[in-house]
Amino acid sequence: MMADGEHGPAVESAMKILVALGGIFEAEKLVDVTSVHMPGSSVVVSGDAGLQFVEDTWQADATFKVPTTLNTGAIDFELWRTLGISESIADKQHRLTRAYEGMGAISLHSCCPYLSGNIPRASEQVAWGESSAVAYANSVLSARTNREGGPAALASAITGKAPLYGYRLDENRGSTLVVRVDTELAGITDYGALGYHVGRIAGDGVPFFAGISSPTTDELKMLGAALASSGAVALFHIEHVTPESEWASVFVESNKPEEIDVGQGELRDAYSLLCKAKETSVDLVCIGCPHCSIQEVAEVAGLLKGKRVRQNTAFWVCTSAPVKTLADRLGLTKTINDAGALIVRDTCPVLAPMKDIASKMNYRTVATNSAKLANYAPGQCNLMPHYGDLKQCVNSAIEGKWAP
Ligand code: F3S
Repeated sequence: MMADGEHGPAVESAMKILVALGGIFEAEKLVDVTSVHMPGSSVVVSGDAGLQFVEDTWQADATFKVPTTLNTGAIDFELWRTLGISESIADKQHRLTRAYEGMGAISLHSCCPYLSGNIPRASEQVAWGESSAVAYANSVLSARTNREGGPAALASAITGKAPLYGYRLDENRGSTLVVRVDTELAGITDYGALGYHVGRIAGDGVPFFAGISSPTTDELKMLGAALASSGAVALFHIEHVTPESEWASVFVESNKPEEIDVGQGELRDAYSLLCKAKETSVDLVCIGCPHCSIQEVAEVAGLLKGKRVRQNTAFWVCTSAPVKTLADRLGLTKTINDAGALIVRDTCPVLAPMKDIASKMNYRTVATNSAKLANYAPGQCNLMPHYGDLKQCVNSAIEGKWAP
């Protein structure tokens, strides 16, 4: 029995955490999970107490039973000095990553594990943290996970189990809000604005979108990230697009949840709510929240080719180490660096020590095409956001100014 110490103290403690969690949510039993995506992989989030807990768990001889990828960390493991990150944060992040790796984690340090090999099948039970990754796993991949916190995800990695409640059950996957989209969506920034608007209304509900056709992977990624940041959405359906949409339509027909319409007016309002910077200056441009796919990196490189980012404006293209490796191979990193921008891997402004970086580097404003980052930037990064599409962001880097 895992809970009675037969498998060692780490497994025993992990089982206790999961059983207690299951008790709170009245779970009938624990189920097997096939993968974990670990939140709390940044020392900025874990803090010293979390770091100590993970190191103690490793010292107690814990090993991971299922494939476990690490979420975004606090540093770029190569460029942390250039970014303005302190030695002390870098040391702590190295310790945290080493402890996770010691237990068997794959140190991906990205919020898009599904772009780098951690791709659950439909109906697979997994234990993932990081709200944008959870929304993608549940909605686009039709896997099953709750928004796992750090201790629960760690316990699931050690035991390969999770309590059966919430989004793991059919009965909680039906839609609570119907969203009729009656405007064309032009690229990921519109999807982000839509997600931001709907997340504020849906809260922790399950939106069902009608009127959206053929979104790309990057657009779905951005929609989920925005829904999960302005609200606490962990699952959405899109008619004729996401895998559970047929079942979700039947659910909507019989349960008749509240309906809202979203048109150009609502999208424009979302843009102006997200665009909070009063001054036109742009100190930092950040693309890649969630982390860029290789297609997005190529798009940035295409726009920057032969151009030069203005002095005193920093430009981060955030992504994972595997995508960065591909960008190196394809010559995209060189194009981006030649223009004076950086590909930043393993981290992002929200999970790096951004308040310290902003004060050290004198950043006050950020231009971004991410609704999630624009939403979090004032509170979590001390940066006032400009929100617009990729071309606007790149132009603002070249001009050093935001042009609406
Ligand atoms: Fe990913 Fe960081 Fe944004 S974890 S979704 S890049 S806030």
